[in-house]
Amino acid sequence: YKGDPAKGKLIVDQVCAACHGADGNSAASANPTLAGQHQKYLYEQLKAFKAGTRKNPIMMGMASPLSDDDMWNVSAYFSQQKVKPREAADKTQMPLGKKMYTGGNFGTKVPACMACHGPAGAGMPDKFPRLGAQHAAYIVKQLNDFKAGTDRQNQTMADIASRMSDAEMKAVAEYVSGL
Ligand code: HEM
Ligand code: HEM
Repeated sequence: YKGDPAKGKLIVDQVCAACHGADGNSAASANPTLAGQHQKYLYEQLKAFKAGTRKNPIMMGMASPLSDDDMWNVSAYFSQQKVKPREAADKTQMPLGKKMYTGGNFGTKVPACMACHGPAGAGMPDKFPRLGAQHAAYIVKQLNDFKAGTDRQNQTMADIASRMSDAEMKAVAEYVSGL
């Protein structure tokens, strides 16, 4: 891919670091960790915020002044940062979370997340975003956004999220945060 991480860092330091962390490991659970996320995925999300097809008031404002090159550059920078492993905060969620992640729910036709997002949550470049060490609260919000289909549209994830209970979402999000 194109994208110059050194140029990206200039933008990150001035604009994005406040919420996502200078090295892409964010502190607040509403702000996703971007470190180690696949470059093309990051770029596509920024394009979607700018186009208004993924709706988030903060990020639409952040993406709108970025040029196409800027978006490649910041995506290159964040994708090359190391994601800091974290521990799941609520260990009581691990049994159900692990069951959903590795096996899904046969009865309600929820597939195993692992099939696409990988056994260790690393995803797959160009295809599936990494989920490992992501904030649980952010994951739960995205699942609800996919389910509602207004702020974020993706057919695959909408089908999956709409079959999940709130308890399953919470549990799988906690599990993923510790991967
Ligand atoms: C989400 C990039 C600045 C708050 C995202 C995502 C990307 C991104 C790629 C989607 C991540 C994913 O799908 O996993 C950037 C860049 C920035 C920037 C490149 C600087 C130009 C900021 C700032 C804030 C912020 C300054 C806080 C004021 C958020 C929030 C979300 C988000 C809350 C989650 C939105 C949702 O719930 O869908 N950002 N960001 N970002 N960002 Fe930023
Ligand atoms: C995106 C969770 C299963 C394909 C996402 C995101 C989350 C998520 C939280 C957004 C990541 C971010 O914002 O950084 C889950 C969970 C699953 C599951 C909990 C199991 C219950 C699957 C499966 C597939 C899949 C089985 C493939 C068939 C995708 C794709 C995206 C995505 C393509 C990117 C969507 C976009 O570009 O907006 N998933 N996932 N997921 N997932 Fe899943």
